[in-house]
Amino acid sequence: MSNLKQMVLDYGKVYPGNVLKVDSFLNHQIDPHVIKSIENDFYQYFKNKGITKVLTIESSGIAPALMVAYRFDVPMLFAKKALPSTIKSEDKYETLVHSYTKNTSSNVFISKEYLDKDDKVLIIDDFLANGEAAAGLADLIEQSGAETVGIGICIEKSFQPGRERLEKAGYDVYSTCRIKSLGDGKIEFYE
Ligand code: G4P
Ligand code: NA
Ligand code: NA
Repeated sequence: MSNLKQMVLDYGKVYPGNVLKVDSFLNHQIDPHVIKSIENDFYQYFKNKGITKVLTIESSGIAPALMVAYRFDVPMLFAKKALPSTIKSEDKYETLVHSYTKNTSSNVFISKEYLDKDDKVLIIDDFLANGEAAAGLADLIEQSGAETVGIGICIEKSFQPGRERLEKAGYDVYSTCRIKSLGDGKIEFYE
């Protein structure tokens, strides 16, 4: 069992509404060794894809995305949830991301400067639930003319529709930890 799965079992807390809290090692306090332990899985899966950039969304995607980008030796770019005053509206790509957990919709942005039509982009995020964040990131990539070569997820809640939705849209989704169920507060993995 990977270090991430072991940490999920040992320290993950299940909350009502099928929410898994991993604040002690991934979402608030971050254990670099846990992220380091899955970085090679992403590398092995996507290494022949010619990746030129890693894209995530702030805030909790940044830590895993940074380590994966370091391994691929490419820049890491993150979509921002607030528009910086220094980016003019014509200089940004923008997309709407709905959060089912928070029941809000918000725009996320990237500066046009950092995505090029020749880029081959790997999306990395900490969680996959409904797939809204990943679909929004793929939309930003599409607007730039670049290519989404894959989506790498640390923790996938496989009982939610995210993976199916992204696969239907044609994306290659790879997750280092796939959770089959969180029923009765018990964490069950695939495999
Ligand atoms: P989606 O992107 O897959 O559609 O996720 P959804 O709208 O359902 O969830 C919104 C936020 O909650 C996302 O973070 C997502 O990563 C996170 N999330 C979803 N399910 C879980 C869960 O069971 N546990 C934890 N810890 N997070 C979950 P976000 O709003 O973008 O916030 P952040 O990146 O600033 O933390
Ligand atoms: Na999050
Ligand atoms: Na996230």
